[in-house]
Amino acid sequence: MSLRLPGKLLQLSSFLWAVQSALPRTHVRSFGIKSLNEAKPSRFNVGPGLPVLESTSTAALRRKANSLPLRSGVIATKKGMTAVFDADTGKRTPCTVLQLDRVEVVSHKTRQKHGYFAVQVGSGWKHPSNMTKSLLGHFSANGLSPKRHVFEFRVKDESGLLPVGESIRANWFQEGQYVDARSNTKGKGFAGVMKRHGFHGQDRSHGVSLTHRSLGSSGPGQGGGSRVYPGKKMAGNMGNTQNTVQNLKILKVDSETGVVVVSGAVSGPKGCTVRIQDAIKKPWPEVAPVVEAATA
Ligand SMILES: *[C@@H]1O[C@H](CO)[C@@H](O)[C@H](O)[C@H]1NC(C)=O
Repeated sequence: MSLRLPGKLLQLSSFLWAVQSALPRTHVRSFGIKSLNEAKPSRFNVGPGLPVLESTSTAALRRKANSLPLRSGVIATKKGMTAVFDADTGKRTPCTVLQLDRVEVVSHKTRQKHGYFAVQVGSGWKHPSNMTKSLLGHFSANGLSPKRHVFEFRVKDESGLLPVGESIRANWFQEGQYVDARSNTKGKGFAGVMKRHGFHGQDRSHGVSLTHRSLGSSGPGQGGGSRVYPGKKMAGNMGNTQNTVQNLKILKVDSETGVVVVSGAVSGPKGCTVRIQDAIKKPWPEVAPVVEAATA
């Protein structure tokens, strides 16, 4: 739309426009849907000293390798808790007794075939009549008897892949090293919000009727959105979810009985299955043969 301006004013305005466009542009306000300004650099992951993130899957795998253990873990059964006493100071340390039962390497996962390196480990024994034929074939192809529990432990590279069929004993871990223990927590069933999320509940009196332990309002009213937001904490199933307890010290190891004693508590009831692997937030154990192979 052209303004109807007297000739002189028109000249003046075009002169002003020329002056303005010649000046260094500091800030240009833009209106409309498409901005005339060039896109700002991202606020994230820019600046000196920050690594440049690559979006390729190879780069992602390289990054992942920094947080993967060098060697496999083992499957154990939680036997219960006890305590050990320091002979000198008399200090009591609560500990958990874990036991290994016929832990053997079932197969490998490799970067070439599956996209990642992992050791598939099995433990215990299961009656063949209670197994699918495909699983039976998987075990017998590798010369193993049927295993009750099978889990994968991710490792950094090929040097962490143990030979298939090799049995792992309790001396896989050294006394004094640290492990992460992964297991399912005790199931609590369908729990209310006070137990599940620590809500305060409502008043005992002051007119509250039959809703003393309920959550109250679950969101804003009409005008405030009038819907329940995703992730709203509500009553529901509690427990029986995987939990990792990090940095447990190995206090005792007995290869004869397969017993591994770790300091502190491990999630789950007695008899539950626990996966233990070298702690990712501590230095890797020194004397492990796989670590030697990796450095050689
Ligand atoms: C198969 O599994 C069921 C359920 O766990 C068990 O009761 C049964 O004894 C098993 N059968 C054999 C032959 O072990």
